[in-house]
Amino acid sequence: PKVIFSGIQPTGIPHLGNYLGALKQWVKLQNEAAPDTTLIYSLVDLHAITIQQDPDQLRKWRKESFAMLLAIGLDPERSTIFHQSHVPAHCELMWILSCQASTGYLARMTQWKEKTAGEKDNSAKLKLGLFSYPVLQAADILVHGATHVPVGHDQAQHLEFSRQIANGFNTVIGRNVLVAPETLISPAKRVMSLKDPSAKMSKSHKDAKSRILLTDTEEEIGEKIKKAMTDSLDGITYDPERRPGLSNLIDLLHYTDEDASKIDQVTIAKELSGMPLRIIKEKVATAVESAIRPIRERYQALVENDALLNDAAARGCEKATESAAKTLVKIKNAVGLS
Ligand code: TYM
Repeated sequence: PKVIFSGIQPTGIPHLGNYLGALKQWVKLQNEAAPDTTLIYSLVDLHAITIQQDPDQLRKWRKESFAMLLAIGLDPERSTIFHQSHVPAHCELMWILSCQASTGYLARMTQWKEKTAGEKDNSAKLKLGLFSYPVLQAADILVHGATHVPVGHDQAQHLEFSRQIANGFNTVIGRNVLVAPETLISPAKRVMSLKDPSAKMSKSHKDAKSRILLTDTEEEIGEKIKKAMTDSLDGITYDPERRPGLSNLIDLLHYTDEDASKIDQVTIAKELSGMPLRIIKEKVATAVESAIRPIRERYQALVENDALLNDAAARGCEKATESAAKTLVKIKNAVGLS
């Protein structure tokens, strides 16, 4: 049977990139899952602290992110939804895997290189937790014996690392204790920033207008899309290489508008050609708003409901603890720790 696992950092309200690139797939997988499929989704708060966080802010984000996972349509009865730090088995497996993980491989990871680009000569500032981030991510996946991991494009390298570490561990142990997971990349695998369409939409970009949050109002969505960076070339064409801003808007239409989802982006561009950019942006804003509105409305009710959120988190912790214990005992056995 399939085991689906994925995670998101509780470092702010998820944005449209998180939603289209990952969360929407999580819900689809849940709703289409065979009865014997297990679905496990984690708020990876231990990954969040690889960057310095304000404690009160983090507390708030953890709660808000939990409410958001319910608001997008995850059902805590069907799926296991939990805070990573509530299940210590993730850290235990991480340590065991750390004893196999190659520092050379970790040093070549894109995220490490990007996040430390300015600090190369200052090793006192380079943190071990950020360096070993992919080992914890591998532990998240492997401790539940996940077979499939739905993510956006930027996580592909971490998933490759997880497979490598699982296979490496199995080779050392001499039998298949760990499951090497398959990556499920969403169709909307890379939603770009509205302000700098050469970069992906991200929670950490300085300019809040570069991203649409799942809590944004209709006005905010309209305003951000109206100000989205495009180009001054003539006509409307779909060309992600030469016209990344415009192509990103066409992608957004494709992934949020019912009719536009039935045709490909090149055809959408043809149908839009002749329209002023202002009107096209209004169409995109309307489509994004109708995709987000029901989520925003459910979120507003859920985030006020502490009792419901606490219950769901406790239930998730219980189910995830049970799931992780099954694998961890096999691994401990395999390495002689039991
Ligand atoms: P995180 O929190 O950065 O992002 C959560 C999910 O959103 C996807 N995503 C995007 N997809 C398309 N376009 C974008 N602009 C965009 N931005 C983000 C990400 O690919 C991801 O799927 N390391 C992970 C969290 C993690 C994890 C795991 C994931 C920890 N352990 C185990 C899977 C399995 C992260 O930081 O995702």
